[in-house]
Amino acid sequence: MLLYIHIPFCESKCPYCAFGSLVGQKDKFKAYFKALIKDFDSFSKDLAGVKFETVFIGGGTPSVVDAALYEELFLKISPFLEKEAEITSEANPNSASFEWISKMKEFGLNRLSMGAQSFYNDKLKMLGRTHDKSAVFKAVEAAKKAGLKRISVDLIYGTALDNKERIKGEVAAIKSLNISHASAYTLTLEEGTPFQNRLELSKDDEALARLVKDELENVGLKRYEVSNFGDICRHNLGYWQGKEYLGIGAYSVGFLGGARLYAPKSLNQYLASPNSRQKEVLSSDDMVLERLFLGLRSCVGVEIKSLPNAWQEKAQTLINEKKLEQRGDKIYAKEYLLADELALYITL
Ligand SMILES: C[S@@+](CC[C@H](N)C(=O)[O-])C[C@H]1O[C@@H](n2cnc3c(N)ncnc32)[C@H](O)[C@@H]1O
Ligand code: SF4
Repeated sequence: MLLYIHIPFCESKCPYCAFGSLVGQKDKFKAYFKALIKDFDSFSKDLAGVKFETVFIGGGTPSVVDAALYEELFLKISPFLEKEAEITSEANPNSASFEWISKMKEFGLNRLSMGAQSFYNDKLKMLGRTHDKSAVFKAVEAAKKAGLKRISVDLIYGTALDNKERIKGEVAAIKSLNISHASAYTLTLEEGTPFQNRLELSKDDEALARLVKDELENVGLKRYEVSNFGDICRHNLGYWQGKEYLGIGAYSVGFLGGARLYAPKSLNQYLASPNSRQKEVLSSDDMVLERLFLGLRSCVGVEIKSLPNAWQEKAQTLINEKKLEQRGDKIYAKEYLLADELALYITL
């Protein structure tokens, strides 16, 4: 099983971001961590014999919270961890200090995912980021100095400021960091964010997306999912493989016993009742559909026999057209960027 822990706090709110996070709220950090423990406890009585193979602390920005506050939480979850569990935290360059990373590593952290977004200061400014590129270099250095071997950076591309030369520059900066992983996302103009209608800020250019892949692969970070490159994040792989996951924290989502469990999407509601969940039972059709989309977007692939007969025939057509590849009893998208289109074709 996998464990996801959501930390819904940020130093500032980026205008493109729709993740569940709030600015400020420092006076509630302690109460939030108490609630997380209550939340975990309420599940842990049903977790006899369960071991987590991965933990992912995401947000929001986990690094805005003092590392000391994580200690009790780590003590709580440690009896439930597999021996070689992968423990990742997201972090922001402004707050991922050497001290924070070192303390988190003492507690068990062995992977860091840093929100870099870009190595061009004008693009960082356009994205509303409050750090410059030097802060990213500094934070990655701090992570290395703290002894972390598995470091990833997030990049956003497909903005109005991107072009071929700049993509090469972004990847050259990633290469110079000598890290094991990168995630590269195209800018999405999310509903309900200040960027929602700012069409002029994005540049939807397939050639740039292909260049991102080619350049990252040229520096040794091989694509294993549409947006992910390098040494495989076992936690995300688990999601794409359809493994069960426990989610704790406000805004978190879990997947247990064939149902999705949604925690409150409000900090105050969560603090008042940390273990309340809205349950959505997934039908077997929903699950097959989800496995098809997630499997084709990644190196996980899809077991052809898990698909209804009509879909298997459509998949065969795509195999004949060399858009899908069959290896053993699984099918894979030859080009992850087209995965959603291929999945849609199979299901229609
Ligand atoms: C929870 S944040 C990561 C950590 C930290 N909060 C930070 O931003 O530095 C997850 C990642 O999602 C990506 N992201 C968020 N909103 C996005 C959007 N609208 N379009 C593309 N990528 C987005 C960013 O790359 C971001 O680093
Ligand atoms: S991108 Fe990261 S720092 Fe910015 S608002 Fe979203 S979660 Fe917070």
